[in-house]
Amino acid sequence: MRKFHSLPFIIICLAIAVFVSGLTANAQGPVRPLKEKIQSGNYLFAARGCSSCHSVKGKGGKTAPDLTRETAWASPILGAAVMWNHVPLMAKARKERGLVWPDFKADEIGDIFTYLHSLNPRGGSVHTFKGDALQGEARFTGTCQKCHGTPFKGDGIGPDLGVKAAEMKSEIEFATRMLRHAPRMAPIARRMEIPWPQLSGSEMAGVFLYLKSLSPATK
Ligand code: HEC
Ligand code: HEC
Repeated sequence: MRKFHSLPFIIICLAIAVFVSGLTANAQGPVRPLKEKIQSGNYLFAARGCSSCHSVKGKGGKTAPDLTRETAWASPILGAAVMWNHVPLMAKARKERGLVWPDFKADEIGDIFTYLHSLNPRGGSVHTFKGDALQGEARFTGTCQKCHGTPFKGDGIGPDLGVKAAEMKSEIEFATRMLRHAPRMAPIARRMEIPWPQLSGSEMAGVFLYLKSLSPATK
């Protein structure tokens, strides 16, 4: 008899656990205080090896550009796009120094650029970047589709980005995944004679918005 009582109880507990973890996962971005993100970014800037090549405010590595900026990192997505544009040379520099490419986790890129932005002498809050889905579509079909195929068809040599984007909560999470995988994309692009795609912050946000708009979950 006991089994019959405990099974529904376990199922209800599991359902509540899944529900609650869903809530906290969704709230993850807005709920973390700015101070915590800055501290985390400051830590990650060293822990992920950035400071071994880059300086901020004149301190740190000298083999790569100083990353103290007036305005460029006002939005983390902008920082991520600028970083993305430099991936091929950065990946090469890391390899030459025997540094492995970081396995960036969910908030890491956002935190790093929030930290860099906090050094801005003019201050200013971090704003989100509004992408344009139409611009994103043009960028996606012109560049990304060559390898990733048509969204939700799974006909590319790279992962289906329709499916991937549907699983993600924010553009910065998307950018983080791009940056995590970039060094493996680069040699394939070279082999296919595709020049490394240069993206602006709004294009990066736009590609994500476009992919999100295709998601069956939002229809
Ligand atoms: C092994 C050395 C090295 C490491 C480690 C490294 N970078 Fe770089 N980074 C470079 C080089 C070299 C360039 C310039 C590449 C170019 O000109 O295309 C660069 C360029 C950049 C740019 C563009 C700068 C500009 O002025 O436009 C950004 C942003 C950036 N890196 C961010 C980062 C972050 C964030 C990290 C840590 C996660 C990091 N880098 C780790 C070598 C490195
Ligand atoms: C030359 C081929 C090529 C091009 C062009 C390309 N990618 Fe990729 N991309 C790949 C491959 C291959 C992977 C898987 C890399 C790996 O195994 O880590 C990948 C992985 C990714 C991921 C990570 C997916 C995940 O599993 O989290 C994202 C996001 C991504 N690409 C976005 C883009 C976007 C956006 C563009 C266009 C601006 C683009 N890629 C252009 C080949 C490419």
